[in-house]
This record gives sequence, C-alpha cells and structure tokens, in this order.
Amino acid sequence: MKIVMLGAPGAGKGTQAIKIADKYGIPHISTGDIFRANIKNGTELGKKAKEYMDQGLLVPDELTTNLVVDRIQQEDCKKGYILDGFPRTIPQATCLTEALASLNDALDYAINVDVQDEKIVTRMGGRRACPNCGATYHVKYMAPKIEGICDTCGAELILRADDEPATVQKRLDVYHAQTQPLIDYYNEKGILKTVDGDKDLNEVFSDILAILEA
Ligand code: AP5
Ligand code: MG
Repeated sequence: MKIVMLGAPGAGKGTQAIKIADKYGIPHISTGDIFRANIKNGTELGKKAKEYMDQGLLVPDELTTNLVVDRIQQEDCKKGYILDGFPRTIPQATCLTEALASLNDALDYAINVDVQDEKIVTRMGGRRACPNCGATYHVKYMAPKIEGICDTCGAELILRADDEPATVQKRLDVYHAQTQPLIDYYNEKGILKTVDGDKDLNEVFSDILAILEA
C-alpha cells in the first residue's frame, strides 16, 4: 500500500500517518521529520533546510525530491509506505509519479486531511513536539502522560519554532499557493480521498481505515 498524505500544516497528517504506518506495518516517511533530524545533527542538508523552515517557506525541490526517491527504493519500502509532507509542490509530485512509473509502480491513495485555516492556527498553538525523538502531542487533544515530558523518551517538550502564530500563517499561505494544487492533481489521477480532519483524531482514523479497507 503506497499512500500520500495531503493537508495543510497542522491538519493532522503526521498524527494519522503514524497510526496508519503502525496498523499496516509500513514505514512512515516524513520529510519534515527528516529535515528536523538533519538540523539536530548539524548536517549540511540540515543547515540549508533550516534557513527555509524557520521562515515557514518550502525547502527547494531539488533538496527534497532525490531524498524521497532514494528512500522509497529501500528494502523496507517493498510492502508500501506512507509519505507525509511530500510531495508539496506540483514539480515534486511530477517527479514522484515519473520515478514510480520508471519502476512500473504507482501510488494507491492520496488522502487529503481537510481542516479550515481558522481551526489550524488555534490547534498549532497547542502542539508540543519532542526535540529528541520527534513525537508530537497536543496540550488538549493528545496530552502526554506527564505534562511537558515526552512519553516515549522522557525529553522536555517544546513549541516548534515554526508553530509561532505568525509563522503558521505564513505556512498556510505557502500551502494554499504551492501545495493545495496537488488536490486537483491527484483527483485527476483518480486516487484522491478526502476526510474531515476537524473530527476527533480517532474518528478521523476510522474514516481513513474505511477508505483503505473498502
Ligand atoms: P512538516 O513537518 O511536514 O510540517 P507541516 O506540513 O507544516 O505539517 P505539520 O507537521 O505542522 O502538521 P501535521 O499535518 O503533521 O499535523 P500534526 O499531526 O502534527 O514540514 C515542516 C517544514 O519542513 C515545512 O514548512 C518546509 O519548510 C519543510 N518541508 C517539509 N517537507 C517539505 C517538502 N516536501 N518540500 C519542501 N519543504 C518541505 O497535528 C497538529 C496538532 O494537532 C498536533 O498537536 C496534534 O496532536 C493535533 N491534532 C491532530 N489531529 C487532531 C484532531 N483531529 N483534533 C484535534 N487535534 C488534532
Ligand atoms: Mg507533521
């Protein structure tokens, strides 16, 4: 099963992608997580990505596309995978389609998690992220067992630098300009499925499972 998650920043792509990956035993590939790990480790890629991410802008296509095309050809991706945060532009989507076609392959689903902008800005203020392992929480909707501490690794949780309200607004603008056109792109390919991401996160997951098991 090869799935792409679409949706605005904060729509819940990561939250749902982790649940799907867990249920089907396939890798969850998040370009945002890959960039954040590179920033943490001080790599050249991390240094370049940080310049864009801190401003709420997209990292240039050439830095993302090769990375993903290499990743999906690794052994653990044979049974499928779930891409979260990639593709994010039409050129990225075209490269992915072409790379898969050259392997005689194609995506099965593009799942669009739909949430209105107004809801996103308030939701992001409550997100907390683990700077060590990348786990994500929400102060109200997905609270850690001990306030401010990661359930998985015990590190202190932070508000991601790009979750400050002004940067969230910038990311939403970038989303509408550069990423939203992918909804039409995948609709035309006949693999688009939209779920209401404003529901409780377990309900959103049930709606996604209903699509994948249909
Ligand atoms: P990335 O890390 O992908 O960020 P994003 O797309 O902005 O999305 P988020 O991770 O912020 O949101 P999400 O949809 O995963 O929501 P989550 O599940 O956490 O990318 C960061 C940056 O990296 C980009 O801005 C760009 O610079 C760069 N980048 C990455 N990929 C790139 C690419 N392909 N090309 C170029 N640049 C790239 O949920 C949000 C919060 O809401 C959480 O607190 C969660 O607990 C809560 N929540 C989730 N679902 C619900 C629900 N149903 N109800 C209530 N709360 C919920
Ligand atoms: Mg995410």
